[in-house]
Amino acid sequence: MNGRVYLDHNASTQVHPEVVAAMLPYFGERFGNPSSVHSFGREAREGVEIAREQITNFLRVSKDEVVFTSGGTESDNLAIKGVAGARGAGHIITSPIEHHAVLRTCQVLETQGFAVTYLPVDGDGLVNPDDVRRAIRPDTILITIMHANSEVGTIQPVDTIGAVARERGIPFHVDGVQTFGKVPIDLDGFGIDLLSFSSHKIYGPKGVAGLYIRKGTKMVSVQHGGEHERRRRAGTENVPGIVGFGKAAELRAREMEAEATRLTALRNRLWDGISARVADVRLNGHPTRRLPGTLNLCFRHVESESIVLGLDLKGVAVSAGSACTSGNVEPSYVLVAMGVPLDWAMGSVRATLGRLNTDADIDYVLEVLPPLVERIRSLSPAAVS
Ligand SMILES: Cc1ncc(COP(=O)(O)O)c(C=O)c1O
Repeated sequence: MNGRVYLDHNASTQVHPEVVAAMLPYFGERFGNPSSVHSFGREAREGVEIAREQITNFLRVSKDEVVFTSGGTESDNLAIKGVAGARGAGHIITSPIEHHAVLRTCQVLETQGFAVTYLPVDGDGLVNPDDVRRAIRPDTILITIMHANSEVGTIQPVDTIGAVARERGIPFHVDGVQTFGKVPIDLDGFGIDLLSFSSHKIYGPKGVAGLYIRKGTKMVSVQHGGEHERRRRAGTENVPGIVGFGKAAELRAREMEAEATRLTALRNRLWDGISARVADVRLNGHPTRRLPGTLNLCFRHVESESIVLGLDLKGVAVSAGSACTSGNVEPSYVLVAMGVPLDWAMGSVRATLGRLNTDADIDYVLEVLPPLVERIRSLSPAAVS
C-alpha cells in the first residue's frame, strides 16, 4: 500500500508514464494543426496517423474504419444518431442497463419519432439473445448493446447477439468503453459494426476516444464543420490526446492478458476476504462473465454513501451505486433493472482494480472495511430491527 488506495478504475485511470512521455512533444514543438500543409502541420498529422495505426493494429481493422472523438459519450452519440440519421425513422433495440450516453441518446430519438425497445436483463445483468431475436421488427434499424456494464462488470453475449443482428442484416453497435484494452474484442467474430471505446479507461488521457465503423455501414455525421476524419467528425483533432490514446492502446496489447489474470486473482481475494468477514453482503453481476477488475457488492441495511465516505477517510477510493438526485438517494438503475431488492440496492459499492493495485492494497481494505460496515450498521435503525 503506497499512501492512498485507488479502487475506481472503471471511472478513470492514472495516465501511464509512457503515455505522458509520448504526448509531451505534441504540447511543445509539434504543436501544429494536422490540417495544415506546412511541416508543423505534417508533424502533427504524423502523430495522429501513428496513433490511428496503433489503435487499428490493436483492433485488427483498417485505418479508415476508426474515427477519433472527444469521449466514449460522443462515440455512442455518433454511432446511434449517425445510423438513425441515415435511416430517418425506425426501431432501435437496446437494454435498460446501458450507459447514459446510450440511454439518453435513445430517449432523445424517441422524442423524434423513433421507436425503442429496452430489453430486460436477468439477475446477473445478462441480456438474452433470444429476446433480441424476438424484439426485431421489419423496421429495426439498429441493435445497441454494451459489451460490459461499468457498474457490475457483467460481460454480455455480444457474439451471439451479433450473429442474430448479422443474420437479419441489422447494424450492431457495441459500447466497448469498459472492455477495450481489458478483454479481447473480436470485431468480425462478434459481428460488431460499430464499437465505442475510450482512452481514459485504459491509462490514456481524458477527452479522447474512438468509434470503429465497419466499412459499408450507412451513417451520417452529427457534428458539422470541416472535413476532418474523412468528413465523419468535424473539428481540429485533439492531437496530444490522440497520440496518448494510441500509445495507451499499444501498451494494452502488451499488458492486457497478464493484467487480466492478475486483477481477477486480486478481485477474487478481495471478495473472498469481505464475504468471510462481513455478514449480509452479496455480489452483484455475473460470477464469471465479468470484467477482471470489477467487484460490485451490496451491504444490506447500509447506505452506499456512508461506506464510500468512510473508506475515503481511510484513504480508499471506491464508488457508490446509489446516487443522490434532488435530495433523494436513488438506487442504481442497473441494480434495479437486475431485480436487486431495494434494501440491498441502497448499499451497493463498486471497487474496480487496476494496474497499480497490489496485494497490500487488498490487505488494507480487508483491515478497514469490516469494522466500518459494522460501525455504520450499529447506527442504522433498519439493521437493528
Ligand atoms: C460503458 C460506458 N460507456 C460510455 C462511457 C462514457 O465514456 P467517456 O467518459 O469517455 O465519455 C463510459 C464512462 O464511464 C462507460 O463506462
